[in-house]
Amino acid sequence: MDSIEVFRQEAHKMIDWIAEYYASVEKFPVKAAIRPGSVFSRIPVFPPVEPEDMRRIFLDFENIILPGITHWQSPGFFAYFPSNTSYPSLLAEMLSSALGAQCMKWETSPAAAELEEAVMNWLKKMTGLPEEFEGVIQDTASTSTLCAILTAREKATGFQVNDKGIGAHSGMRVYCSSEAHSSVEKAVKIAGIGRKNLVKINTDNIFRMIPSRLDEAISRDLENGMKPLCVVAALGTTGSTAVDPIEEIAPICRRYGIWLHIDAAFAGSALILPEYRRFLKGVEQSDSFVFNPHKWLFTNFDCSAYFVKDRESLINTFKLVPEYLRSQIPDHVNDYSNWGIQLGRRFRALKLWFVIRSFGISGLQEKLRYHIYLARELKSWIENHDHFELLAPVDFSLVCFRFHPKGMDEPAELNRINEQLLLSVNRTGRIYISHTKLNDKYTLRMVTGQTNVKLDHVQQAWDLILEHARTIYPF
Ligand SMILES: Cc1ncc(COP(=O)(O)O)c(C=O)c1O
Repeated sequence: MDSIEVFRQEAHKMIDWIAEYYASVEKFPVKAAIRPGSVFSRIPVFPPVEPEDMRRIFLDFENIILPGITHWQSPGFFAYFPSNTSYPSLLAEMLSSALGAQCMKWETSPAAAELEEAVMNWLKKMTGLPEEFEGVIQDTASTSTLCAILTAREKATGFQVNDKGIGAHSGMRVYCSSEAHSSVEKAVKIAGIGRKNLVKINTDNIFRMIPSRLDEAISRDLENGMKPLCVVAALGTTGSTAVDPIEEIAPICRRYGIWLHIDAAFAGSALILPEYRRFLKGVEQSDSFVFNPHKWLFTNFDCSAYFVKDRESLINTFKLVPEYLRSQIPDHVNDYSNWGIQLGRRFRALKLWFVIRSFGISGLQEKLRYHIYLARELKSWIENHDHFELLAPVDFSLVCFRFHPKGMDEPAELNRINEQLLLSVNRTGRIYISHTKLNDKYTLRMVTGQTNVKLDHVQQAWDLILEHARTIYPF
C-alpha cells in the first residue's frame, strides 16, 4: 500500500472499525477462550512473497486474531490491574505512530524530549511528589525498578561494577516485603546481585512490610559482612494494594545509607487525589519512585513514570556516547536514552499530554474517585453477605475476597472452591477476574479501575459470582 489515497481510505475504515469496537466491546468474551496453538496454526509457515490486499489482511485480523484477544478495554475486565486506554490517548498514539519519531536524543526529536520533561513535571505536581525529583518515561515499572537497583548498585560501588564487573562487590543485598512484585526479584537477577541476596521481609496482618524486621535484617547482614544496597517499598502491592509504612522505612534507609525505591506501579495514580496524599508520607526521603499511567491514568500501554532524586547517578549509570551518537547539545536539555536502558525511545510523552489536557486534573480525579466508590460498593456487598468474606482492606480500587460458605472451614477445600469459582465465572466470557494467595488463602481479586466500568457492570459481575457460587456450594 504505497498510495496515500489508498492509505487514507483504509485509515478511515479503520477508525470506523475502532469506534465500533469501543461501542460494542462489551459484546466480546472478555477473556479469550481459544485452544493454545490455534492462532499459530492458522498463520502460514512461509511469509507471502507477493503483496497482499489490505482487505484480506484485515479479514484475517477479524477472523484469526480477534477471537484470540482478551479484551482489556471491556468494562467486564476486573483482572490483574487494568491497562487502560482512553480516546485522547488513542489519538495521540495515532499521531506518534504517524510521526514515527525515534526519540533517543534531544536532537533526534527535540519536541519529544522537551515535552517529556514538561509532562513529567506536570505529573510530579499532580501527585505531590517532592520538587527535587526529576522524571523520565520508561516502558514499564519492571524497567524502572531495574534502573533504580542498577543506579543504587553503581552509586554504592563508586560506579565500579559498571567498570570492572561485580568482582569484589559480591554480597550486596536488596530488601522488599514478601508481598513485593516479582519485578524486584527479576531486577536483582539481572543486576548481577543474585536472587539469594533479595531479602523478603515479613508483613503485618494487612500485608505491609514490618519496619522493625527490616531494621533487624539489615543489621544482621552488616554483622555478617553483607552490603545492604537498596530497599524497595510498595505503595500498593499487587496482591492487595497494601502500602508499606514508608514513613518508618525511610529513616531506616537513611540511617544505613541505603537507596529507597518506591514501587507505586498501580496505586500511585491515586496520589492525584488530595485525600490520598497521606500515603506520600516519607516519600520525600526516598531516592526514586515509579508509577504507571498505563495502569490507572488512562494512558495506553506502555507508559511508566520514573522519578529520581539524584539524576547524575542515574545518568552516570547508563550514559554511553559512541562516536556515531556524539552531538553538540545545549546543557539544559535532556538526552533521555542516557536515563535508562534502551537507546531507541518512542514518543510516549505525547499521549500523556493529550490525556492530562483532555481530561484535566479534575476529570482524572473524578474518574478515579468513581472507581474507588465502585470498589467500596463491592466491598459493602461482600461484607454484608453471609457466605463471602473480605481478605484485605480496600484502600484503592482493588477488592480481595473469597467465597466462604458458612460452616466450611477446611482451608484446602476453601481454596479449591474459590479456584473453581474463578474458572467458572471467567469461562462465561462475561467478566474476567484474577486471583492471588493472601496468607495461603486463594483470593479472588476484582479491580474496579477499568476506564469504562460503571456501577451496573460491577453489580452484574457480583450477581454472576453469586450465581456460580451457588452452583458450586448451594447456600
Ligand atoms: C506493584 C507492581 N509493581 C510492578 C509491576 C510490574 O508492572 P510492569 O508491567 O509495568 O512492569 C506491577 C504489575 O502489576 C505491580 O503491580
